[in-house]
Amino acid sequence: MKTDLPQSFRRLEYRPPVYTFDQVELDIALDPARTIVKSRIDVLRGKGFVAGTPLVLVGQDLEFVSLRINGDAHRHFELTPETLSIHSLPNEGKDPFVLEIISICVPEKNTTLMGLYVSNGNFFTQCEAEGFRKITYFLDRPDVMARYRVTLQAREAQCPVLLSNGNLLKTEKLPNGWHSATWEDPFPKPSYLFALVAGKLECIEETITTSSGAKKLLQIWVEPHDLKKTRHAMDSLIASIHWDEKRFGLELDLERFMIVAVSDFNMGAMENKGLNVFNTKFVLAQPETATDADFANIESVVAHEYFHNWTGNRVTCQDWFQLSLKEGLTVFRDQEFSADQMGSESGRAVKRIEDVRLLRQMQFPEDAGPMAHPIRPDEYQEINNFYTVTVYEKGSEVVRMYQTLLGREGFRKGMDLYFKRHDGQAVTCDDFLAAMADANHRDLTQFKNWYSQAGTPRVKVQEHYDATKKQYQLTLRQSCAPSPGQPDKKPFHIPLKIRLITSGNEQVEKLLELTEPEQSWTFDNISERPVLSINRDFSAPIQLEFDQSEADLLALFSGDDDPFSRWEAGQKLAMQMILGNRLPDAKLIETYRNLLMDPQLDPAFKELALTLPAETYLYEQCKSVDPQQIFTARRAFRKEIAKQLQLEWAALYQQNQTPGPFKPDAFSAGKRALKNLALSMLLEADPKTWAPMAVNQYQTADNMTDRYAALSALVIHGAKEANECLADFFNRFANDALVIDKWFALQSSRPPVEGLELTLSDVKRLREHPAFKLNNPNRARSVIHAFCANNPASFHQPDGSGYAFWVESVLALDAINPQVAARLARALDRWRLFAEPYQSKMKAALEQVAACQTLSPDVREVIGKALGN
Ligand code: TRP
Ligand code: ZN
Repeated sequence: MKTDLPQSFRRLEYRPPVYTFDQVELDIALDPARTIVKSRIDVLRGKGFVAGTPLVLVGQDLEFVSLRINGDAHRHFELTPETLSIHSLPNEGKDPFVLEIISICVPEKNTTLMGLYVSNGNFFTQCEAEGFRKITYFLDRPDVMARYRVTLQAREAQCPVLLSNGNLLKTEKLPNGWHSATWEDPFPKPSYLFALVAGKLECIEETITTSSGAKKLLQIWVEPHDLKKTRHAMDSLIASIHWDEKRFGLELDLERFMIVAVSDFNMGAMENKGLNVFNTKFVLAQPETATDADFANIESVVAHEYFHNWTGNRVTCQDWFQLSLKEGLTVFRDQEFSADQMGSESGRAVKRIEDVRLLRQMQFPEDAGPMAHPIRPDEYQEINNFYTVTVYEKGSEVVRMYQTLLGREGFRKGMDLYFKRHDGQAVTCDDFLAAMADANHRDLTQFKNWYSQAGTPRVKVQEHYDATKKQYQLTLRQSCAPSPGQPDKKPFHIPLKIRLITSGNEQVEKLLELTEPEQSWTFDNISERPVLSINRDFSAPIQLEFDQSEADLLALFSGDDDPFSRWEAGQKLAMQMILGNRLPDAKLIETYRNLLMDPQLDPAFKELALTLPAETYLYEQCKSVDPQQIFTARRAFRKEIAKQLQLEWAALYQQNQTPGPFKPDAFSAGKRALKNLALSMLLEADPKTWAPMAVNQYQTADNMTDRYAALSALVIHGAKEANECLADFFNRFANDALVIDKWFALQSSRPPVEGLELTLSDVKRLREHPAFKLNNPNRARSVIHAFCANNPASFHQPDGSGYAFWVESVLALDAINPQVAARLARALDRWRLFAEPYQSKMKAALEQVAACQTLSPDVREVIGKALGN
């Protein structure tokens, strides 16, 4: 029986470092079985210096070889599996000294994909958050910022390319077929931003001139066969560089900026200084192999990592509790960039709706569950578990609220002051807030509650119209349910954009600031009872409690001038009817019809307006979830829309063709999205009649968006032609790993279809497929996560078979890669929300995992919190 409690780290226990590092020299001889790392570090007193304190470095899975101080062998040290403590420092540590350490690591055995590892025969590193300690003994914390000079050595035949951060100083031939390259990064950085890449890679490159007139070299490095898929990433990088100059006055600060693609990667991408490392999924694209969504994701991830160069790298985090300082801000920046790239106002709105949909589908459940945490957490066991939708997406919403409150100009002033004060420093979320407040002479004290309190605030809306006084009164009450460790909440500072809509159209949009638990506003000279449009553009990440009549919702859905609120009214109508087990009534169908046939509306908006709220979002509206009931009600609702509007869908399918050579722009992508929704609706209405049209689209498509959409419609609706097309798809793209991931994911995420076997049987077969690899995260996710997290109606079976599969998968993955396993472990977070028999079976599954003696700290934390320990 394991009795020791998991170790927790607490924000308030932060202490500045006793020692700090100035110059770091690394000499790394790369060998998959035995990589020798020599470090030479200039050690100085840190902010928290106390004479006589030992220097405690961290190291993980390292073989210690030797230690010197000021050139002499040093014996006064102690090794534990996680630390190297060095005593008897020169003059009690008061004088600067030179530390030299030699250690060895084994990249080919490293399946965690943290630290130094091998992927397809090439070397890569991933150091955020705490991976550098798997490369060498170090002060592996973000508030220790040092300048690095790195020499890489390798066999030239195995590793012709040797990359690290910064600028290339020199390359050398060495004896026995070895060679070396020396890189220098002029900017001080924390260890988590260190990177090296070595192997058989090739690049495309471009030279650009930035705002100050400097020439910069941009490179995208990939395996040679992927070179033809790099153009879009390069274009996205160039667009990002220009955008950051224009919108924030921020320029690229290095002579060279590199992106490298790797197929084994735990997350999306990593912003290492001057050497961003990317999951191939977010670099490689061609119309034949990547969908419109892939193209858009690449653009936003390239931008995100590039933007980190200022928000994250030049100004970094004091400690990992401040993660949202860089992540929330950088997500906000990439969202704004992508919105601007859409090229039109309606395009911006489409991007906003997509971002909000993701937030509500993923982050609202997290914020109501056992892993709920403020965007700046106060406690964690394993920091890797806190790269969450809360820190990223809600973090971005919090940054967006500054802009809403201060205006774009005010926000820019705050950013300017933030960089003026903190360039080159490791700082906190409080520092960011202070810069925003000081630059705008605003008191933002109450706004801090967004950083310290978890949970989605609820705002209850009450309205009253007095026809004789021509007066409208609005009362708002805010509350927030308890979160783990936070029984009572203080009121938030909530910016709410509203507009009173009347037939005369005389009222303009206003910004209300809700700061009290309850607040009222009175509006005079309102000629008739208005329809309230509230939380326009999703100005705050809240849940509204508002019994707005269906007539008012229909009016908003038909014509609210704020596209987000218009979309939202439609979502609310659909949600209420689905949860009430109703079918769309004649009025709603008529509104859908008018919207679909409106020539003024953007096709992308129509597609979003006709896409129903996700099952996981519907779950959050229930007291006790019956997943099968929700699935059935939602499907019936959709089928009714499909059938009632069959003629319209057929017309839209024809009208939204995009003939001629493939064009990736947002408008064409929107047309494809609407056309493919129409195709899916037609198969929903009548698979026998329309399947041949899908087969035809599948066969004749010149791009992946259309080919995949057709295949997906056939699979999802259980058409008899599906299997033949699936087989064709596999053979056609057998050599393209990212497309094969799609092939796996499509089958694993197929919802239940009458007359077909349960998806779980397919998933179990897919797991035995020769192309399945559990240790490749993209492949594992395309089968296992796709089923457990993206296919709720198949996963939540009353016999618990889905949960049994989850138990097996979490344990199998945990032995290979704890980070990937811990993500999967989150799939049962919301077990308490479910009705029987689901709830008991989920709990039993969690207990089964908890009983395993060898769980990683990552999975242990997720499971422990789910069970309430
Ligand atoms: N900082 C990275 C980003 O914003 C994400 C990241 C954190 C990451 N930890 C990682 C990526 C571990 C890969 C592996 O995008
Ligand atoms: Zn990031």
